[in-house]
Amino acid sequence: MSTATQNSESIIWSGEADGWLDLLDQTLLPTELKRIECRDAETVWEAIKMLRVRGAPAIGISAAYGVVIGVQTVGMDSTIADLKARAIEVIDYLATSRPTAVNLFWALDRMRAKVDSWGDDLSLADAAETLLQEARAIHQSDRETCHAIGKHGCDVLDDVQGVLTHCNAGGLATAEYGTALSVFFTAQDQGKSLHVFVDETRPLLQGARLTAWELMQRGIKATLICDSMAAQVMREGKVQAVVTGADRIAANGDSANKIGTYSLAVLAKHHGIPFYIAAPASTFDLAIESGAEIPIELRDAGEITNGFGRQTAPDEVEVYNPAFDVTPAELIEAIITEHGLIQPVTNENVRSMIG
Ligand code: MRU
Repeated sequence: MSTATQNSESIIWSGEADGWLDLLDQTLLPTELKRIECRDAETVWEAIKMLRVRGAPAIGISAAYGVVIGVQTVGMDSTIADLKARAIEVIDYLATSRPTAVNLFWALDRMRAKVDSWGDDLSLADAAETLLQEARAIHQSDRETCHAIGKHGCDVLDDVQGVLTHCNAGGLATAEYGTALSVFFTAQDQGKSLHVFVDETRPLLQGARLTAWELMQRGIKATLICDSMAAQVMREGKVQAVVTGADRIAANGDSANKIGTYSLAVLAKHHGIPFYIAAPASTFDLAIESGAEIPIELRDAGEITNGFGRQTAPDEVEVYNPAFDVTPAELIEAIITEHGLIQPVTNENVRSMIG
């Protein structure tokens, strides 16, 4: 099977408030570009749960559209109270799809605030339209946010030729351009030539399947490595910075991201290489003080024992499969946000930039 070569948006809304969500099925990349039509909340929930759409901002955007779809079951002869009740039911349901990326809850809270603002005399059509407008606003603002992150992040790569990234924090994981990858794409736009080392990102291979694909689509030099090769790559002096995305950042700057990110940050510290997180304000959870409070998603054992169609471990072996880990703030050189750099990463600096 060959690599899909056509680029494609991960999230597209089609039509008006009675429309549908069209998602690129990321589980099939890089060999197949297939889209899924989501016409009910269950299909959106399943797409998030199974990582057909993934990456913190993309999950939030999809869930927001999922609310628009979920209320389509309410007949136009119903009352505004019925529509409100259904909207809240859908919001609560979509919130159960994945626990770690706070962008999901951030987007659903914005949708909930819209529902709370409905007056009793609002027509059902107008109420549904407010939900669509809010979902579109979340989608559009993420585009702008990603480009702003890229611009701020570029400066940290001034003296860097080789950089390492983990998982996928690219256009597929956001409205467009990405967070960590936006930094590389923007550097390229500004004429800089970078060599990006890409961790394959066990067990679901978001680095190999998605990041390597996105970088190659844009003509950025990409070298794929197994996660366990990062120390060797650093020791050989091949990278001068590490940049990853994040799924939830606590008030003290502790940052949850794809499993394996924490060990990269430890390795980077040992080798004197700066480790950066690139993430939007919507990834910060200022309601929690430290990373110890971030819920870590545990996923199915089969992702490790039977990944991609082949059994690679004995039957019945005990498996532990946390999907994320938390990098302590003291290992992070700076957090690159759409508002600028948080550096040093302290509670005070996080609150003054984000709060
Ligand atoms: O399990 P995933 O693929 O949703 O994990 C994604 C990541 O860890 C990304 O690095 C993070 O969401 C940032 S995406 C801009």
